Amino acid sequence: MKKQVVLYKKLSSPLMARLQEQTEVTVIDSLDAEGLARLRDALPRAHGLLGASLKLDAGLLDLAPNLEAVASVSVGVDNYDIDYLTERRILLTNTPDVLTETTADTGFALILATARRVVELANLVRTGGWQRNIGPAHFGIDVHGKTLGIIGMGRIGEALAQRGHFGFGMPVIYHSHSPKPAVEQRFDAQYRSLNDLLQQADFICLTLPLTAQTEGLIGTDEFALMRPESIFINISRGKVVDETALIDALRRGQIRAAGLDVFEREPLNPDSPLLQLSNVVATPHIGSATHETREAMARCALDNLLAALAGERPANLVNTGAWKR
Ligand code: DGY
Repeated sequence: MKKQVVLYKKLSSPLMARLQEQTEVTVIDSLDAEGLARLRDALPRAHGLLGASLKLDAGLLDLAPNLEAVASVSVGVDNYDIDYLTERRILLTNTPDVLTETTADTGFALILATARRVVELANLVRTGGWQRNIGPAHFGIDVHGKTLGIIGMGRIGEALAQRGHFGFGMPVIYHSHSPKPAVEQRFDAQYRSLNDLLQQADFICLTLPLTAQTEGLIGTDEFALMRPESIFINISRGKVVDETALIDALRRGQIRAAGLDVFEREPLNPDSPLLQLSNVVATPHIGSATHETREAMARCALDNLLAALAGERPANLVNTGAWKR
C-alpha cells in the first residue's frame, strides 16, 4: 500500500507526478482557516508531510500518530518543535545549499537598495517628483570599499562575504559562535566580537538562524553601538531582532537605513511604523524566491521525503537523533 502524504506547497507538474507515483497525496492549497481544518483532518492518516510556513507544534503532531517524516521546503527550521519530532522519531529534513546563492543575492540587493536609496528614488521618479537634477539631499552612500559585517557565518554568510570581497572590494568582518579560519583565508575576513562588529561595520548583515540563543539578539543596546552612518540588513528571521528597538533606532537616526526581508510577524502589517520610514526597504521574505531556486528547493524536499518514506536516511536530515535504524 502506498504511504499517505499531506502536501501544503504547490509543486511543479514533474515533481507532483513523482510524488503521486510513489505516494497517495492529499493536497492542501492554502494554509488559511479552511486549509488548516483540512490539514487537521488529513493528519491522522499521514506518513509524510511536505511544505513550508506551517508552525508544526506538538498539538498538530499529536494528530498524526503514523507520521514518519516532515520535509520542509526551507532551510530554516524554526517553525518546528524539533525536540518533540525527535522524541517521536519523526525525521525532519530541510533544503540547505540550493538556496544559498539566491539568498545572498537578496542580501546584496538590500545592501545596494538601502545605500543608493533605490526604492525611495525610483518612487520619486514614478510620482513625478523628479523636476530638476537631484542634489545632495538625494545622494546615497558608496557600497564598494565599505566594511561588510556579517553576523552568522554559515553558508549564506559566506556567499555574502564572497560578493562583498570579490565583487565590491569590501573588507569583511564577521561574528559567529566560533572563528572560521577557512573563511578568513578565502575572503581575507576578520573575526570580531559582536559588540566590536556592531561598532565597526558599515553594513551589518544578519544571516544566522532563529534559535533560543539568537532570539532577540539585536535590541536597544546593540543598536546603540551602531554608528549613524551604518546600515542594518536582515535576511535571517525577524525575531532575531527586537523590532520596536529597530524602529526606535531608525527614528532617532542611530542608524542610516535598514533593509529588511523578514519581520517579527509575517506578513508585515501594512500599518507597521517601519513602512512610514523612507530609509527602510522592506521586502516580503523573498530570500530564496526565484523560479529556479524554489523549484530546486521543492525537488530537494521531495527527494528527502521519498528517501525517508522508503526507510533510507535522507540527505538533509535535521534531527539526526531521530535516526535510529
Ligand atoms: C528558508 O528557507 O528558511 C527561507 O527563509 C524561506 O522560508
